[in-house]
Amino acid sequence: MVKAIIAPSVLASDLSNLSNECKRMLGDGADWLHMDVMDGHFVPNITMGPPILTWVKKNVPEIFMDCHMMVADPAKWVPEVAKAGGKLYTFHYEATDSPADVIKLIHEHGMLAGLAISPATPSSVITEELGNAVDHLLVMTVVPGAGGQKFMAECLPKVTDLRARFPTKNIQVDGGVGAGNACQCGHAGANVLVAGTAVFGAESPKTTIAEMRAAVDD
Ligand code: DX5
Ligand code: ZN
Repeated sequence: MVKAIIAPSVLASDLSNLSNECKRMLGDGADWLHMDVMDGHFVPNITMGPPILTWVKKNVPEIFMDCHMMVADPAKWVPEVAKAGGKLYTFHYEATDSPADVIKLIHEHGMLAGLAISPATPSSVITEELGNAVDHLLVMTVVPGAGGQKFMAECLPKVTDLRARFPTKNIQVDGGVGAGNACQCGHAGANVLVAGTAVFGAESPKTTIAEMRAAVDD
């Protein structure tokens, strides 16, 4: 069985105090920090890029930066994100005609490769070959672009399909996830849970992280 991994999304944090927010989450039991990189093209919003990731890594050396690249040209940012200290580079299937080449490039730069699908994209686009080539799969449970949206449970059958075909891969869900639906996500086959609003908005992020972990591992 793959283990639960809890990755708070920094999009819901005080971004002007990002390094400290990351440290606080690690202290509260987070495994990874989910860094939502938006370029204003693949999605309308702009968030952060390699210079900010570089500073976070400098200030929080123990961090595992789970970089969710909501960018129109995923190959372009691979060298800089690797240099910044990114560990996992997840790009969108919808953003490229040559996902296999991007995966290869990510691996050549020493990072783990993740492939994401937006709600409108079926899981069948992740062929056996692509799924086996990546380290990580991300099923979006909201339309990418903003935090604080409503969880789309209708995306979970895609998680179940991918879990059946890729039993040992990390499968992540992202968007509207929290302690209330973590069990449902885990049951569908997800083991990596991203949560922005649910964790940063909680009275006790530590309790929420523990609850989410228990919901997947139990
Ligand atoms: C959406 C982002 C998510 C999002 C998660 O575009 O990829 O990571 O910020 O935030 P919540 O948990 O608030 O939906
Ligand atoms: Zn994300």
